[in-house]
Order: sequence, then structure tokens, then C-alpha cells
Amino acid sequence: MGTWNNVSWSLDKPVYLIGFMGSGKSSVGAELSRMLQVEAVDADVYLETCERRTIADIFARDGEDAFRSMETRYLKDLSQEARIISTGGGVVKRAQNIAIMHQFGFTVYLQVTAEEAAGRISDASSRPLFRNLETARLTIEERRPLYECAADASVNTTGRSIHTVAQEIVGILEKNSLLVEN
Ligand code: S3P
Repeated sequence: MGTWNNVSWSLDKPVYLIGFMGSGKSSVGAELSRMLQVEAVDADVYLETCERRTIADIFARDGEDAFRSMETRYLKDLSQEARIISTGGGVVKRAQNIAIMHQFGFTVYLQVTAEEAAGRISDASSRPLFRNLETARLTIEERRPLYECAADASVNTTGRSIHTVAQEIVGILEKNSLLVEN
């Protein structure tokens, strides 16, 4: 529950933010939480906290498949409450995850170019799958149909501030009756 425009709101169901690394999912999630006073959880941080290991370590020791299975398990956990969920950039790689997001909530795709994403990522070492600009371009293109299949709405983030993107999302949530007045 929160207050925005002097009215107190809660979310009707989970709102998932999806998009490539550096699209701003975590920052926009935190800004939405601040603006609406509703809970936001970063799925990668939640996974690392529960596993007591970093994602880089999980990839290095157990590989991507093991990471993806954990990601699905925690996505299901987090979907049990109406909150904002900033997902990991590869969440759409498993059809099961797209099905979970469709079943439980509303999904917003944050679009970004590879150039802008690279500029925003300060520490690529914590992101095992962000190798270089060319690979990022290819991965974004490869994943675009998956992001689009999962998304109920899309927002362009390139060249836009976190607050502007969050404001557009608030409008989308209002239009789709996802903000419930208490
Ligand atoms: C990944 C993105 C990362 C993290 C993992 C894999 C990906 O999340 O889940 O390194 O496959 O794109 P962010 O998008 O939050 O960086």
C-alpha cells in the first residue's frame, strides 16, 4: 500500500520489469517503489541473498542451467505477493518463466540499445553474460521476440531518465487498472 497524488494505493498483482542488462530494471523498480510507496524486489539480489552466493560465482561453478533453475524457483516465490519485481535480463530465456509472469501478473518491457546499456553498466564483471558491445547487440536482437512475447506493455528507456521512465509506467499501471485505491 502506498500514497501517490495524495491517494493511497496498492498493486492489484505483481508487476514484472523485464529487459536487457542495463535497461534500468532495478533503478526503475526502486523509483516506482519510492513514487508509489509499494514494495519492489530485485530478483537477482533476492536470489543472491537466498543462495548466499553471487551470480558470477553460480555461473562460474555450476553453469547457466543451474542458475536458470534457481531463477525460476525464486520467480515463483516472488510472484506470491503483489509487488514490483525487477527480473534478471535472461528471465525470458525459459518459456516457463514467461508462463509464470503471464499467470500471476503484468509485465513491462524496458527497451534499450546495446550502446546505451554498455554506457550504464559500470561493472561488467558482475554480469557473466555481458561480454562486449557486439555480443550485446546480437543478444538483444535474439531476445527481442521473447521480451515482446512476455510483455503486456513496452517502454523505451534510451536517452531517458529513470524518473521519466517510472512516470510512464505509473501511467500504464493506471490505464490497466493495476493501481487499486484503498
Ligand atoms: C543475465 C542478466 C543478469 C543476471 C545474470 C544473467 C542475462 O541480470 O540475471 O547475470 O542473461 O541477461 P541483470 O539484467 O539485472 O543484469
